[in-house]
Amino acid sequence: MSIAIIGGTGLTSLHGLEIDHREMVHTPYGEPSGPITHGHLHGKAVMFLARHGYGHTIPPHKVNYRANVWALKHLGASRVLAVAAVGGITPAMEPARIAFPDQIIDYTWSRDHTFFDEDLTHVTHVDFTHPYDRDLREQLIAAARSIELDAVESGTYGATQGPRLETAAEIRRLRRDGCDLVGMTGMPETVLARELGLAYAASAVVANWGAGIGGAEIDMGEIEENLRLGMEKIRDLLGAVVPRL
Ligand code: HPA
Repeated sequence: MSIAIIGGTGLTSLHGLEIDHREMVHTPYGEPSGPITHGHLHGKAVMFLARHGYGHTIPPHKVNYRANVWALKHLGASRVLAVAAVGGITPAMEPARIAFPDQIIDYTWSRDHTFFDEDLTHVTHVDFTHPYDRDLREQLIAAARSIELDAVESGTYGATQGPRLETAAEIRRLRRDGCDLVGMTGMPETVLARELGLAYAASAVVANWGAGIGGAEIDMGEIEENLRLGMEKIRDLLGAVVPRL
């Protein structure tokens, strides 16, 4: 039952990871964002992949999500803990908070979003009623409680195309649709993991208020500072959750 961690913006390396080796995987879908790092975190074998590349050079719409997810499955991952920076929409989703989304709405377009579109002998529809793995989410929630991390334990993630941030009207629309968070990488990563039978759950780090909330424009300096604070919490959270898995 191998554990894989996909790090997003602000998490291109894992603090405390004892690295054994790095491995490049060539997939039928092309190259992943970088080599997969094999190592041990708190005594447990884990794999780590930086979603945007180790130098953070791949924008959200250019990430080869199929290659990333396929590579982790190929190397034996059965569970994926994804970490992603997001914007906050509803009042609980304050900058620097951690949230564990339980639903997602896909607003992305023209991304390779399925493994089931070639060599079709039959049409496959995966169940996606509950997009995140229940057990893995419960472990995240229990781990967060055990370290008294003030995390939001549910929420709907709106996945936007990027790389630009949203307009104020788009954020109002997402809120009307029921989104609590907005990010650019949740889809198709989440559904691709489901298609390959991987248990997948996400920890979202709120970097900023969504566009138009609070009136001011989005300040990139504030995003950096909130991500720094949020990623410190993620390190504590991973330290608490990985030994439980
Ligand atoms: N919108 C979309 N993605 C994001 C944001 C945002 O405001 N902040 C961090 N990732």
